[in-house]
Amino acid sequence: MSRPPSRAAVKAKGQPLTTGATAPELTVVVPTFNERGNVVEMVRLLRDALDGVAWEVLFVDDDSPDGTADLAKSLTGLDPRVRCIRRVGRRGLAGAVIEGWLAASSPYVAVIDGDLQHDETLLPKMLERLKADEADLVIASRYVDGGGETGGFTRTRAAGSRLANWMGERILRAEVSDPVSGFFMVRREVVERAAPRLSVTGFKILFDLIASTRDPLRILELPYQFRERQEGASKLDHRVVVEYLGLLIAKATNDLISPRFIMFGLVGGTGFFVQLGVTKLIAGFAPHFGLQHLTLFGLWFLYRDAIGALVAMTTNFLLNNFLTYRDRRKKGLGLLVGYLQFCLACSAGLAVNLGVIALVRHFFPGAGDILATVAGVGAGAVWNYVSTAFVVW
Ligand code: GDD
Ligand code: MN
Repeated sequence: MSRPPSRAAVKAKGQPLTTGATAPELTVVVPTFNERGNVVEMVRLLRDALDGVAWEVLFVDDDSPDGTADLAKSLTGLDPRVRCIRRVGRRGLAGAVIEGWLAASSPYVAVIDGDLQHDETLLPKMLERLKADEADLVIASRYVDGGGETGGFTRTRAAGSRLANWMGERILRAEVSDPVSGFFMVRREVVERAAPRLSVTGFKILFDLIASTRDPLRILELPYQFRERQEGASKLDHRVVVEYLGLLIAKATNDLISPRFIMFGLVGGTGFFVQLGVTKLIAGFAPHFGLQHLTLFGLWFLYRDAIGALVAMTTNFLLNNFLTYRDRRKKGLGLLVGYLQFCLACSAGLAVNLGVIALVRHFFPGAGDILATVAGVGAGAVWNYVSTAFVVW
């Protein structure tokens, strides 16, 4: 993996590329979103904790409105070991961390929250274990002896965290007490190899890394106390929890069912209720306006079903844009164009749906309505998912 550069590369045109500066041995990646109030203290704490280590810190900021990136970049003038990547048009903790790691060239990389909830004094101990070749991955855990979460968690959050860990451990089939920890250190080569398979959405980068690594990793856990947040607010919300469940299903099915597909399916399910609701609503109102006999194109289906379907298609598009593709959200004119493309793709999806039902009925006359419908809806859903992923987002 880390092949030394050829002499020709280093001595290009006769000029040696070496300088007096020491290369960092450890890159600490700090994902940030609206952490302006914590950045300076973070750097100060890292400096104290990593005294004697050749380190650098890399803030990966998703264009925080509070100007976190500006502040982080201004610190480089005071200490060149401080770097910052400002990402625009993208959001996501996992994606930010991966991008930071891939920008590193040091042999060891770490990730730590930028809100001072993680105990940075653990970093040199983690590095020591990796350098002694005792492990490939060192995790800071709240759930091994000596670890904890005093004050850092509400009761619900603590219970949720334990449940998430329990499920994660079952699916990973690895002895890891805190597979959703956001604080760990790893050999960079492990990350470089796994990177193409990692998901950029959600919070569960550690779980994903362990699940996506082909050769089993030697994992070590060190205890720490999760601290209380002093400045700013947590970004872990319900969507993050839903995404985690999606990731668990994906890993349990060997990536056959992706988190995005599950989200797309859930949104599709809401469309059913929207369509039903709107159709019923119109049916209820129509007689008051003498519209109950209105038909569309003189066809047997009533205009209310068409309106119901159109409303459902619209809410589906907006929900998918907001949730399923939150990292590639369409705005302005793109939103309108995307909407039209979405409607076209899903209309074709309806044809696929009905076509598959017809095929099943033709070739398996014995198959009941349920089987035919499940096959049709399934094929339609796959069509809609694949085609809209391709055309719209
Ligand atoms: N770049 C970027 N983009 N950073 C983000 C984003 C994002 O979309 N969302 C959150 N962050 C940063 C925050 O600014 C913070 O530095 C760090 O990621 C953790 O986010 P918090 O919002 O503070 O998470 P938490 O404290 O609720 O959750 C912690 O515990 C979880 C386990 O229960 C984190 O350590 C999680 O990683 C961990 O899974
Ligand atoms: Mn936090």
